[in-house]
Amino acid sequence: MMQFTARDRLKFLTGAAALGLGACGGGGGGGGGGSSASAPAPVAVTPTPPVTPPPVTPAPAGTTLQSAFNANFKMGTALNGQQIAGPSGDIARDEFNSITPEYELKANNIAPTQGVFNFDQADRVVDWAIANGKEVRGHALLWHEATPDYFLQGTPAQIRTRLETYITTVVDHFKDRIKIWDVVNEVVSVDIYNGNNGVGPDRDTAWLQAVGSGDYIDWAFRAARAADPDAVLFLNDYNTENPIKRAWLIEIVQRLLDRGVPIDGVGHQFHFQPDTEISAAAGAIDAVDGLFAGLIQHVTELDMNMYSDPGTCWESETGCAADLGANPPAANLAAQAQMARDLFDVLKARSSVESVSVWGVRDGDSWLNFSPTERFNHPLLFDRSGNPKPAYRAITDPDYEI
Ligand code: XIL
Repeated sequence: MMQFTARDRLKFLTGAAALGLGACGGGGGGGGGGSSASAPAPVAVTPTPPVTPPPVTPAPAGTTLQSAFNANFKMGTALNGQQIAGPSGDIARDEFNSITPEYELKANNIAPTQGVFNFDQADRVVDWAIANGKEVRGHALLWHEATPDYFLQGTPAQIRTRLETYITTVVDHFKDRIKIWDVVNEVVSVDIYNGNNGVGPDRDTAWLQAVGSGDYIDWAFRAARAADPDAVLFLNDYNTENPIKRAWLIEIVQRLLDRGVPIDGVGHQFHFQPDTEISAAAGAIDAVDGLFAGLIQHVTELDMNMYSDPGTCWESETGCAADLGANPPAANLAAQAQMARDLFDVLKARSSVESVSVWGVRDGDSWLNFSPTERFNHPLLFDRSGNPKPAYRAITDPDYEI
């Protein structure tokens, strides 16, 4: 019998998804939200700072992000229910062919109370994406930052049953509309400098403490595969450009593959700061390619932070870089444009990269306006008024002079 690789599966399913398979009636309003990966306290949905957007300036005639990279990979963005009917939704409709609901698919939004599932907010964003011909990335079936307390009550066996029921219910609900899932998010150790609390490559989260090992990762992938054998399943994490953290990621991926756990791909969040080396990002892609040739790779949450903050800023909002204000210096925008051009040159040269998503449309949409501290950030491809920034021009127009 012919064995389809994960890539074959995705290529087929991407075509099917583009046909707009199925759609349920949605409804429900906004609100909800989870908590950011780096700030300790839950972060409310990131409202755009009070800037009145003038009319959206369209990209140069004929050029969109999805058309520019059509031969390379899907171009996606995070989008939430408050944005789909506004300027960011208009831009997303034109520019992108993949959508990741920013928080609507997280457990603290879908099932904050045990046994009670509310899909309204997620259906609304997913149905909008499908109606506009977009592929949908499901993010994320398991994330310690968005796990309601009840999930982890009781014995590991009880936790396993609860997790399997949750994943089966969610994946089944979206079976005709979502064929790509971030099954687990941020499960790799973050002790990238001083050892890992002695618990191995796994992140020391409430999941690890409640289960006693990384076996919960296996459970999640197996439940997702059983719920939808056609879905393409990812392990997603940030800072994979750091060789120490990447080594732990590879150790976990190898462990899963050795156990026959059905993982199809690795998601690199790629939340960059100004001093991020693009060669390190290339190293992350190449390391996975070199060891796991059949795995698909996605860039899942790209943003290019305007600030390089010390750890104290992420831990306690102390020592954070000074706010640049609503209009960042041209030099900062130029450096960001060069970073974007260098990164996309790397990604276009690597066939295992099949999707690249930014984490938001307009600068004012970004979680980085509130995490790790509240200040104006400018990490995306469109400014607060919806105009393409130098970084947009740099990756879509080879003749654009930065
Ligand atoms: C963030 C969203 O952007 C916020 O709106 C939400 O309140 C919290 O989550 N890494 C992730 C994403 O994997 O899910 C996080 O998204 C950002 C960090």
